Amino acid sequence: MAKITASVFTSHVPAIGAALDLGKTQEPYWQPLFAGYEYSKQWMKDNQPDVIFLVYNDHATAFSLEMIPTFAIGTAAEFQPADEGWGPRPVPKVIGHPDLASHIAQSVIQDDFDLTIVNKMAVDHGLTVPLSLMCGASMPEIAAGAKAAPVAWPCPVIPFAVNVVQYPVPSGRRCFELGQAIRRAVESFDEPLNVQIWGTGGMSHQLQGARAGLINKEFDAKFMDLLINDPEKAASIPHIDYVREAGSEGIELVMWLIARGAMNDVVNEVWGSDKGAGSKVKSNAPVVKKRFYHVPASNTAVGHLILENV
Ligand code: DHB
Ligand code: FE
Repeated sequence: MAKITASVFTSHVPAIGAALDLGKTQEPYWQPLFAGYEYSKQWMKDNQPDVIFLVYNDHATAFSLEMIPTFAIGTAAEFQPADEGWGPRPVPKVIGHPDLASHIAQSVIQDDFDLTIVNKMAVDHGLTVPLSLMCGASMPEIAAGAKAAPVAWPCPVIPFAVNVVQYPVPSGRRCFELGQAIRRAVESFDEPLNVQIWGTGGMSHQLQGARAGLINKEFDAKFMDLLINDPEKAASIPHIDYVREAGSEGIELVMWLIARGAMNDVVNEVWGSDKGAGSKVKSNAPVVKKRFYHVPASNTAVGHLILENV
């Protein structure tokens, strides 16, 4: 059976992709940000999955206001990096896993989560920047002249796009429960695959309006604490709190709850029960392998976690 071994959480700021692609990683503005991912790149090499299930949002690139799926699963054999206005990023194409993706679609839809099935889709910075941060060359390799992007991504990736751009967007609770359903789907796939689930986007940021540039370090730290130790409580944060506290684009953080909902310690959690909620640390709570936070990257607070299942 396939198994989810770890979850990875990271922001996806497009300027990070541009800094990598334009060779700016050693500049004083960017160096501390990329230094925060050095451990993670080595961790990826040491813990290479067979498949990454990558939860991200499309930024009106593959979709638009003409068509807004709430949850969309990529079932194609491959996905090209999107042209977001400056040409496609110079990164490898994404190889999919149609068999596992179709199985997850079948299982999750029958589990009452209605997904849109996408057989052709370009993937934007929401997906490629996290891959670059986790799977690109290390700082010493780049300093020695290596290209930031690898020749190929290390494994197949299933893109899973969530609408966090146009209201109504899904609730944190819905996302958390969807993560639980994705885990059930993965564990009923009849091949011994090592699957990582990634939740991307966030942290606090607001890109437009009177509060453009908003960053809230306290909210971000509390969100990470809750996500690790009391994910049901994190899942109960209402939309209005994200907007007020984390800015209009802080709502991207609901995607982290999908990945967290797929972890071992919440597998049997029933929404609204107080069984596992609260400060009790469970014996199968995930191990925090990395926690990183950095401000700023462009207009955004960058957060990053690696949680391993025990
Ligand atoms: C920025 C952040 C995002 O999440 C995004 O999708 C686009 C831009 C920014 O900080 O510039
Ligand atoms: Fe974004």
